[in-house]
Amino acid sequence: MGRTTRYVSLRQYAEGRAIVPDDFALRTGPVPEPPPGGVLVQTLVLSLDPTLRGSMTGRSDFYNQQFALDEPIHSRGVGRVIASRNDDFVEGDLVKGRFAWADYSVAGPLAGFGAGNGLTHARPADVKLSHHLGVLGNTGYTAFFGMMAVARPRPGDTVLISGAAGGVGSVAGQIARILGAKVYGLVGSERKSAVLTEELGFDGALVYRGQDLADRLRALIPGGPSIYFDNVGGELSQLVMDQMPFRGRVVECGQIATYGEPDGGLKVDIKPIHLRGLSFEGFAWTQYSEFFPAAKAQLQHWIATGSLRVLETERHGLESLPEAFVGMMAGENIGKMTVTVAE
Ligand SMILES: NC(=O)c1ccc[n+]([C@@H]2O[C@H](COP(=O)([O-])OP(=O)(O)OC[C@H]3O[C@@H](n4cnc5c(N)ncnc54)[C@H](OP(=O)(O)O)[C@@H]3O)[C@@H](O)[C@H]2O)c1
Repeated sequence: MGRTTRYVSLRQYAEGRAIVPDDFALRTGPVPEPPPGGVLVQTLVLSLDPTLRGSMTGRSDFYNQQFALDEPIHSRGVGRVIASRNDDFVEGDLVKGRFAWADYSVAGPLAGFGAGNGLTHARPADVKLSHHLGVLGNTGYTAFFGMMAVARPRPGDTVLISGAAGGVGSVAGQIARILGAKVYGLVGSERKSAVLTEELGFDGALVYRGQDLADRLRALIPGGPSIYFDNVGGELSQLVMDQMPFRGRVVECGQIATYGEPDGGLKVDIKPIHLRGLSFEGFAWTQYSEFFPAAKAQLQHWIATGSLRVLETERHGLESLPEAFVGMMAGENIGKMTVTVAE
């Protein structure tokens, strides 16, 4: 009998309700053979991203492609090549790409949604592996381009960020501070609020749960934020937009509050946009791929000079992926959430 690998799959889709650990299953199957031009990778670290939730609804009309039931889920990850059929990669190379939630995964340099796609070397090799998925990967790029290319705050701006203690939010807020704006965060707990103000230099933070949020927000930012960097969407963001000044700008990064809604979420009531003359601009980090090397260099410089602090929440073990993903969606993480599968 050939070698086997454990993998995590979806047992059932979760539509119109919160996802729970029981929606996932830990299974065992054969270690796959690398395809021509591909490699076999031992998984080291996997990224947990809210967008994966959109691939767990079973809706064929949803904007994300759906994971097949009982097949390995896949997300971005870092791994080590253990067999190669590609001259650009040799055994022992550290690589990143889209890997199965499995001990072993095949991967190749194709683009797109499928497991194994988008293989590149993980460089520089001397940083913590999780940084390739967080601050020096798509999470950091999302914060960087969302702030530097879309929001473009200047001194005098007041920037409010929802999901501010998460992977994207914690980096985006610090970039706004570096650019000279005042920066505030909306978060799910007092602990997160303290981290933002005491460790990351935010000017203030507010727990969005509980009573009188509209009054508390008015007291924190009289006149409202000139820029709202939105990771959350839903009712929270409608409440924020109702308080924004004339010609305020909404940068729509994500809508995590709505990803589990029965109709697929991502709905915005444009009343405050109309009444207040707000601008509303979405973006995707992938639109800026030609500038990734420059963004990475700038993020590394800010980290090295102490301007940018990196927050991460790390879980361990392939079997912890379901609990970790559900926990991330419910706000258990501070900063980027990853799962270390092998040391
Ligand atoms: N535009 C792009 O290209 C792009 C790329 C990557 C990610 N994104 C989006 O960016 C956002 C942040 O992603 P991330 O990877 O950095 O995840 P994250 O913020 O590290 O983790 C998700 C956080 O969302 C918050 N949250 C969950 N449900 C919420 C709700 N109902 N209301 C308010 N907050 C809620 C939780 O924090 P609390 O404890 O504060 O509730 C949780 O920690 C997501 O919306 C994601 O889809 C966009």
